[in-house]
Amino acid sequence: MNKPKVYITRKCPEDSIKRLKNIANIKMWTDELEPVPRDILLNEVKDVDAVLTTLSEDVDESFFSHANKLKVVGNLAVGYDNIDVKAAERHGITITNTPDVLTETTADLAFALMMAVARRIVEASDYVKKGQWKNWGPLLLAGKDLHHKTIGIVGMGRIGTALARRAKGFDMDILYHNRSRDEMAEKTLGAVYAPFEDVLEAADYVVCLTPLTAETKGLFDGKAFELMKQDAIFVNVSRGPVVDEQSLYKALVGGKIAGAGLDVFEKEPISSDHPLLSLDQVVALPHIGSSSMATRYKMIDLACWNIAKILEGKPAVTPVKS
Ligand code: DGY
Repeated sequence: MNKPKVYITRKCPEDSIKRLKNIANIKMWTDELEPVPRDILLNEVKDVDAVLTTLSEDVDESFFSHANKLKVVGNLAVGYDNIDVKAAERHGITITNTPDVLTETTADLAFALMMAVARRIVEASDYVKKGQWKNWGPLLLAGKDLHHKTIGIVGMGRIGTALARRAKGFDMDILYHNRSRDEMAEKTLGAVYAPFEDVLEAADYVVCLTPLTAETKGLFDGKAFELMKQDAIFVNVSRGPVVDEQSLYKALVGGKIAGAGLDVFEKEPISSDHPLLSLDQVVALPHIGSSSMATRYKMIDLACWNIAKILEGKPAVTPVKS
């Protein structure tokens, strides 16, 4: 019997896709960093049973309409705003994501960004490397404390709760805003639910972890930054379009907030001449929230496992619904 065909849109290590190797014929895009061009992708999708995608691919109506026997798209991310899930459902195609395996790693990075901005880690490291360090000074590169401050988590899903646990370890007060209450976090971590505006007003660190949806697009706008404390630090590790970058830039330059740690941007990759990147009080990363070696292997494995399940006629491990 012919093996099913799988297309993988980014070069992944051979040993990370072993779950699929025995059961499918695999074709993989040859570059690790450059996404597959759209025309090549649309051509490849015509003849395959499954595609492993990344967040660089738009998996939309036009993608699905090119497919003739596609059964499943395994997205290599917990977020799936790059996928039109309703269109997939219309075409009878299963969509899967990679939750849980990246929770702790992403929470680590969110906390690292808070610390990096607060303690001016990148600035200080550059200062040493550029030979600017001449002497010890009482206020040399003095930053802000995290311990005993208030963190405001917007989007209290799995990663939000994992971040709250880290904050608890630093004796921080935890405020959160979410569509639903997290009773476990309230009971075990002392997290306190508050309306969005109240979180912004009270938090020293505002961390955005909400998924990108029609409702959350542009959620952090000029009004939101206006409500924050003047010495607040804003961190975004979810999706860029949840933030209006122009308003963020104005808030930083105008002293409405003190700093920002950004792992995600409205347009990725962000252009190196983007105004936000000119600010010392901004730490910018290239969307590496879940990027530890171990976690990325687990994510690829979970995406492959989901695809394998569907190809074997079984339910997916982590399907997503519209
Ligand atoms: C996700 O999983 O959604 C991340 O943004 C990509 O690792």
